[in-house]
Amino acid sequence: MSDLLVERKGTTAWITLNRPDARNALSMAVNIQLGELAVELDQDEDVRTIVITGAGDKAFCAGADLKERKNVPASETGPYINAIATAIGNVGAIRKPTICAMNGSAYGGGLELAMACDFRIGVEGSEVGLTEVRLGIMPGAGGTQRLPRLVGEARAKELILLGRRIPIARAHAIGLVNDVVARGQLHAAVEAMLTELAGCAPLSVIQAKTAVERGVDLTLDQGLELEHQCYEVTLYSSDRDEGLAAFAEGRPPQYQGR
Ligand code: COA
Repeated sequence: MSDLLVERKGTTAWITLNRPDARNALSMAVNIQLGELAVELDQDEDVRTIVITGAGDKAFCAGADLKERKNVPASETGPYINAIATAIGNVGAIRKPTICAMNGSAYGGGLELAMACDFRIGVEGSEVGLTEVRLGIMPGAGGTQRLPRLVGEARAKELILLGRRIPIARAHAIGLVNDVVARGQLHAAVEAMLTELAGCAPLSVIQAKTAVERGVDLTLDQGLELEHQCYEVTLYSSDRDEGLAAFAEGRPPQYQGR
């Protein structure tokens, strides 16, 4: 059985980290595969949404594979750090909507992976943390940059500088995860979000995602210009015509992503 599974259901690709006995820790092999898969799925016209989850009920992902790293001298860690940063970077660069179905706790690179997705749904009883400073390192796959953008600098420092593990309910309260559900409801919650997304024009979602993500680092004027450019892409799409026609005819739209 592969350490990384991918299953297509309709227009959604489900990626599963499949090392439950190692709490789905990110090995070098998994990182390389995940990085390549992210690029492939982004380019695949038949895929509109991507879900990332973990196998088992103990953890979503315990972060970098610490056992694998233990035997690697500091001078030779470059490829390991590059592989995890590339994998998570490639997930973050996916233009289509991505959902992290956090089937359990997420630490270190596991939380960095979750933060690279657009939406995070957690389960009751789990926790999250960027624990790297407790291991003599620091977050190196986007954590120090994505977390403050999500929750603000003060709360990000609380997690990053103290290496704190916080309950998922607090992660929800500070806006780090979008929702928290009972473990048995996770699949249904993800499906409900996929159904919502299926009612949205794919090109519109991609352009809106671009405007939100890139706009964060711009001045307001630059951001408004970016928004205008993104809007124009939707303006000349056939899905815009379909959206207006479906509204006028009182029927659900059939979007083609064009
Ligand atoms: N890398 C490699 N193996 C890991 C791992 C990691 N990051 N996290 C857990 N494992 C392994 C354990 O070594 C153990 O292996 P073993 O059965 O061969 O002894 C197995 O997964 C189960 O771990 P265990 O701690 O017994 O399970 P648990 O359910 O009680 O706790 C965690 C799970 C994730 C809370 C705990 O393992 C943990 O805190 N891991 C480290 C998380 C972390 O700080 N990650 C940041 C990395 S930068």
